[in-house]
This record gives sequence, structure tokens and C-alpha cells, in this order.
Amino acid sequence: MLKNRSLVSIRDLSRAEIEWVLDTARRLENHRGRHLEHRQVALLFYEASTRTRNSFLTAVHQLGGCEAGFSSGEGSSVQKGESLHDTIKMFSAYCDAIVLRHPRDGAARWAADISDVPVINAGDGKNQHPTQTLLDLFAVQATQGRLENLSVGIMGDLKYGRTVHSLVDALSLFPGMQLHCISPESLAMPDSYLSQWRAKGLQATHHQRLEELVPQVDVLYCTRIQRERLPDETEYEKVRGIYRLNAASLVSARPHLKVLHPLPRVDEIHPDVDSTPYAYYFQQAAGGVAVRKALIYLLLGLEG
Ligand code: CP
Repeated sequence: MLKNRSLVSIRDLSRAEIEWVLDTARRLENHRGRHLEHRQVALLFYEASTRTRNSFLTAVHQLGGCEAGFSSGEGSSVQKGESLHDTIKMFSAYCDAIVLRHPRDGAARWAADISDVPVINAGDGKNQHPTQTLLDLFAVQATQGRLENLSVGIMGDLKYGRTVHSLVDALSLFPGMQLHCISPESLAMPDSYLSQWRAKGLQATHHQRLEELVPQVDVLYCTRIQRERLPDETEYEKVRGIYRLNAASLVSARPHLKVLHPLPRVDEIHPDVDSTPYAYYFQQAAGGVAVRKALIYLLLGLEG
């Protein structure tokens, strides 16, 4: 079903395919094997990463493979001015798959069109972060027991945050989802995502205040302000620290509420939330290894 395909946008997957990836992730969670023996995955990271890069690396190792690539342009011929086109051509010759993070919207789609091997988008600009969304759904399913009829709050930078763009697209595939957005006006969710959501007959509301949102949701997905994507520092100073979730702000939460965050966090979740039963962001990130193992397994058509 997924063999030899690229994953550029979460829109590349149907609901059934998403569920297949999540089922496979559950199956492979504690699995180690030699499925990728003598095979190599390129990790091409033109932007900083802790979780995405290292969970892919861990996934490749747990499947018995090895990696090539770079964790920033420095130290590679990107520094000498080599184009993305030529870099993709080279790694597509050396490796069985390419994982690409790039600051430009659309870079992963372009790479997938050039590459002879599957390309997995590890985040392109403010556009999409589909593997993050799969691990977000893995966390929602694990904590809520289902992927439908849920009330989901998303908070923070909904304009430049690629994780929320992919997440909203994915959630719209599941019935009975209610979306509650909380952001400053200047960082509101682009209409293109919301119109698609409403076109499916799903509900979406917008809030300015965190307190009114907390009692209404099953999942609260927090994000940091994407400082590096804002036009300038003045714009950042206007919104810096605008939402700060702390343990006290969760007193009216539903008992089964889970707070998620793609991480890294800056100041939007106080560390005193970490010890509450609502915090799930570290387990969420840990699930990234299983989900990325499942993706590599399915896209490369591994057996056994
Ligand atoms: N969530 C996420 O993409 O984290 P990294 O930037 O650390 O990979």
C-alpha cells in the first residue's frame, strides 16, 4: 500500500493508510531487527533538530540499517553552494530513502519529484511536518483510546507552525472532531486550513484566552512561537510569552485531558505541568521512534 512512496504532506495519506502506519508502529514499538541490513537512509537536515533527526536515526538503527547525510549545511558541499537538486540526486544514488528537513516551503515535494528513492518530509518551512503528525495521532490514540469524536485545542503560533498545519489536515479525516484554536490574531490559523476543515462539516472555534479553552478539550496541543519564521524581532516581541500554561491553569481541566507539544518548548508550558497527570509531551516525543520505524518499514517494503 505504501511501498516506494514518498511522504511529503499528510494529505498524501488516506485515513486507512494513517491507521495502518499507527498499527504498524504499535507492532514495532519494542521490536529490533535486521530488516534494513546493508541498506542506508539519508538524513538531510538543513535546519536544527533534536527529536526528528535522532528518532529517525534510532529507528534506522533499530531496524538494522545505517545512515548517511548531515545535520546542518555546514560541513557538506551545501556550504560551497551546491543546490538542493544536486544534493538530492547524489543521496538518491547512495541511499534507499531520504529524510529531508528544509527551511523552504515545498522543498520536500520538489525533492520527491527529483529523487529515485522515497523522500520523507521531516519539516519544510511553515508548510508541513507529516511524521510529527503521525506521532501526535499515535499519542492521541494511546491516551484517549480513539481517533474520533474528540475536542482538540491547538494553542500558540498557528500561522507559522508546520506541525499544526499537518495536524489539522489529519484530524479532519476523522469523524466528530471539534477544533478549538487559540492564538493571537497575528498568528491565526490560515484560512486555507480552516476552510478545508469546515468543508467537511466539522466545527472550529477561535479563542483568545487560554482559561476559557481548558475545560472544553480532551487534548490541548501547545506550540511555541516560531521566532525564526516571524518577519522580524519586533513582531516576535509583540507575541512573546503570550500564552503560558501552568499547573494552576489546569484546575478546571477534564480528568482525561492530555497536554501535547511537538517540542522544543520555550515558555509556553511551565515545568510545573510536567508532574501533573495531564503532561504527555515527553511520552509523545518518545513515540516518534516507533512511528518512524513503521514509516521506514512500510515505505521501503521491508519484510520479516
Ligand atoms: N518536533 C520537532 O520537530 O522537534 P525537533 O525540531 O527537535 O526535530
